[in-house]
Amino acid sequence: MNDSTGPAAAVIDAIRTRRVVRAMTSEPVDPLQVEAVLDSARYAPHAGNRRLHRYVAITRPALLRAVRMVSPGMLQRPTAAIVVCVDWARVKSYGFPPANPGPYIDVGTAAATMLLTAHSIGLGAGPVTSFSRAAVATLLNLAEGLRPEMIICLGHPAPQQPPPVRRGSTPAWADLVQWEQD
Ligand SMILES: Cc1cc2nc3c(=O)[nH]c(=O)nc-3n(C[C@H](O)[C@H](O)[C@H](O)COP(=O)(O)O)c2cc1C
Repeated sequence: MNDSTGPAAAVIDAIRTRRVVRAMTSEPVDPLQVEAVLDSARYAPHAGNRRLHRYVAITRPALLRAVRMVSPGMLQRPTAAIVVCVDWARVKSYGFPPANPGPYIDVGTAAATMLLTAHSIGLGAGPVTSFSRAAVATLLNLAEGLRPEMIICLGHPAPQQPPPVRRGSTPAWADLVQWEQD
């Protein structure tokens, strides 16, 4: 537990140092780096191990610009993006009740995994949920049943970052926890 070196320390360091990157340079992201981020998503935990998500990778500047125009929450100008989609047709065919939060929770686990991977390989990344689902689905020509739920922006971090959305230090873990013990 107290080992401050080795793989465990590297993972904990990545978790602690990752921040949303909202200022990115215009340097394109290497496709191999986009692949590394995409590859990591399949290792995220998924409800019932069903894998009801599909990922759309975008690197074409014109399409990125179009997606940005319908995404008020996209404050960065990414040079690549991964759109996390829920395949609601498959959700239905597996008999998940509509109110089951599993598919949305899975968006979060995949996103967290991809954000950490991006950070670990030196990319900047930021999640965006403030966007028009209908407009992005049209722009990406998504198949029936696929709905975009989150966009992971990717790019090279600019030297200067805007201030965080809300200022304030990360709370102490004990302030967020109710610990049931004897
Ligand atoms: C579900 C979810 C939706 C988010 N949507 C947006 C968004 O639309 N635009 C944005 O700039 N950041 C978005 N964020 C990023 C949060 O604002 C960010 O994680 C938070 O301010 C903490 O910053 P940090 O991740 O750098 O510690 C979202 C994060 C989550 C988990």
